Amino acid sequence: MDIAAAPKPKENMGEPLARIDGRLKVTGAARYPADIDVANLAYAVLVPSSIAKGEVARLDTGEARAMPGVIDILTVNDVSGKLDKPKFGNANATSIAPLQDHKIWHDGQVIAVVIGENFEAAQEAAMRVRADYRDERPSATFDSEGVEEADAIGATRWLKQHPKAGDFDGAFAAAPVKIDQTYSTPTQHHNPIELFSTTAVWRDDELTIYEPSQNVFGWKVAVAAQLKMDPEKVRMVSPFIGGAFGSKGPMTPRTAIVALAARKLGRAVRCVVEREKAYSIQTYRAETRHHIRMGADRDGKITAFSHQGKEITSRPDPYVVGGTSATARMYGYGSVLTQVSMVRADRNTPGYMRSPPETPYVYALENAMDEMAVALGMDPVEFRRINDTMTEPIEGKPFSSRSLMKCYDQAAEAFGWSRRNPQVGSMTDGDWLIGMGCATAIYPTNVAPCAARVRLSSNGHVTVQVASHEIGTGIRTVAGQIAAERLGVGFDAVEVETGDTALPPAPVSGGSNSTASVGSAVIKACEGIRDKLFYSASTANDGPLTGKDMANFELRDGKVMAGDTAEKLTDTMNRLGAGVIEEYAEFVPKGGSPDGVAKLYKGQTEFQGGDDGDKVKYAFGAEFVEIRINRLTREIRVPRLVGAFAAGRIANTRTARSQLMGGMIWGVGCALHEATDIDRRVARYVNRDLQDYLVPVNADIRELEVILVPEIDHDVNPAGVKGLGELGNVGTPAAVASAVYHATGKRIRDLPIRIDQLIA
Ligand code: MOS
Repeated sequence: MDIAAAPKPKENMGEPLARIDGRLKVTGAARYPADIDVANLAYAVLVPSSIAKGEVARLDTGEARAMPGVIDILTVNDVSGKLDKPKFGNANATSIAPLQDHKIWHDGQVIAVVIGENFEAAQEAAMRVRADYRDERPSATFDSEGVEEADAIGATRWLKQHPKAGDFDGAFAAAPVKIDQTYSTPTQHHNPIELFSTTAVWRDDELTIYEPSQNVFGWKVAVAAQLKMDPEKVRMVSPFIGGAFGSKGPMTPRTAIVALAARKLGRAVRCVVEREKAYSIQTYRAETRHHIRMGADRDGKITAFSHQGKEITSRPDPYVVGGTSATARMYGYGSVLTQVSMVRADRNTPGYMRSPPETPYVYALENAMDEMAVALGMDPVEFRRINDTMTEPIEGKPFSSRSLMKCYDQAAEAFGWSRRNPQVGSMTDGDWLIGMGCATAIYPTNVAPCAARVRLSSNGHVTVQVASHEIGTGIRTVAGQIAAERLGVGFDAVEVETGDTALPPAPVSGGSNSTASVGSAVIKACEGIRDKLFYSASTANDGPLTGKDMANFELRDGKVMAGDTAEKLTDTMNRLGAGVIEEYAEFVPKGGSPDGVAKLYKGQTEFQGGDDGDKVKYAFGAEFVEIRINRLTREIRVPRLVGAFAAGRIANTRTARSQLMGGMIWGVGCALHEATDIDRRVARYVNRDLQDYLVPVNADIRELEVILVPEIDHDVNPAGVKGLGELGNVGTPAAVASAVYHATGKRIRDLPIRIDQLIA
């Protein structure tokens, strides 16, 4: 495949086309899974436990059952033995299996499901289900009595080893300048605007589930396993997803329970989980702690770097993100020592949340980088330049491409970094202290096997089918755009179908892999169509292109072209005897297992990228923020953000910009607003839904500039795309912390940074 043949190869940027689904979404015409009309629907409402640890001793459903409109109440008696327990990992968020026994693993665990003729009846009855418990004292989080700490190796596919190089202890002891600090991040929840929902419809022994999902093939297989049925009889449908961010990546126990309820009742059941119940039935970003030690020469060269991370997980499941793979490879450190452990508490199992390993780990590293720059009396950008490297320090492998300092230079220029007076507290505007800070963003380039089907009609209409997921990133648009480019048709002539296991399988939409994986599969299918057309045109008995070299052929404006010579597409297709040419393609990344697509059909996604392979593959960015802190009230404002990002080919500069912008705004939330507080006595979330969970609103964000730095990388995948959906928010929290230090001289190491930490 020829990357250079893509349009605008010099800039390596795709057109900023508007979203295919934009109009549907803004007019309310997009049908989310809970909007889909289903006949004879019953409504399910979950009943959550009010303890975090122990057992349900007695459940009284009498009063609830007597309520008008109540059809049934599912308890342990209905579910135990009828479902297999989910296996943690792969497509399942947790091994916790509510209603399969009486055990309670966490607050808010489902202890009953009320089914009603309508939502209100079910909800009212749910409030009248009474439970008596045998409760035990739960362990809520770090430092709680009874938590269990263990090394995290082997717990996650991301964490195969604790990256290590050279003699850290010796180098750290000998370093003339040292940092030895701890950093922490709180529990954070995703809060997608679309609620979590499941709609289960049986037709004889065939099940269709409508549910927002980032992994329809994974869930199809996983739910079939729980229901002890043939996966071929399950169809997962997820046409639109109204925000996911990882929360709809792995399947949670509700899905199989609702399907079971529908089978028992012999009618369709829909469960839309109320926002106030969602925090304990979804996943979340676990709170983390970091111990960083860094040593440097007086000229700013880092000689020793150690990163020890700890993360909270549930009692039964070893969920851990482990971000040391990236932090250990970020700069050209002389020596590296890392370790990650997990701390088991009586909590629901955490999971992926936007930029899973990098956001908390890079926050800690980049904070330490800023502290070290201050300790060295060095400009933080120059300090990073001194430690920039084209070879990662753990195994000595080259980066496939790395444009970090280009990002710094372009962002610094646009931001006006040269106007910053490095003296702490020196910049003011009336009662406002001004702070300027910066930090690095990094995200691994993941790519996975993917299948796609593309159909080209002789009238120039194109259909792309791929069971990827429109989680708001614009994958439909980008997949359509890539097909339009390759087949030489207008973007308006392309239709893209996603989010349905009736389509060719795609990987989980996570880890920023979708544009790369789906793009590569669509390119492969389009190449198949082009080959057929070109061969036909070149080998025709008597045509304008007969005998011409296929290498010079292209498809443009409904014609097969070779230089100035053209044949109408309809003529080529008529010769082939085809009104439609259809191509199904299976893309497997270099270095991936050859049966990668067969594994997708079995519900398993295998990523390549990051630290795998001969070359390591990461996207980079540099983020600059200006903050203002009121001298009297300590109110914090963020008037300006500038980020420059290099992520290989940018498939669509508009959708890319939107992702990066959203990511940086999220980063402001992560820095200044977001935290799920836990009542340590009862291991319960206190601010348990969006109404009490702070995120930035429009008024919190003023100027925001995204710079897309051109970068060509032929090593990452045939699409040349690194992926950037999760890149934007990685650097922002540390950049804000750096700016807060610059304004006030206070180094805040525990997120979020709030007014109370800034009061002297
Ligand atoms: Mo993303 S948190 O990897 O779905």
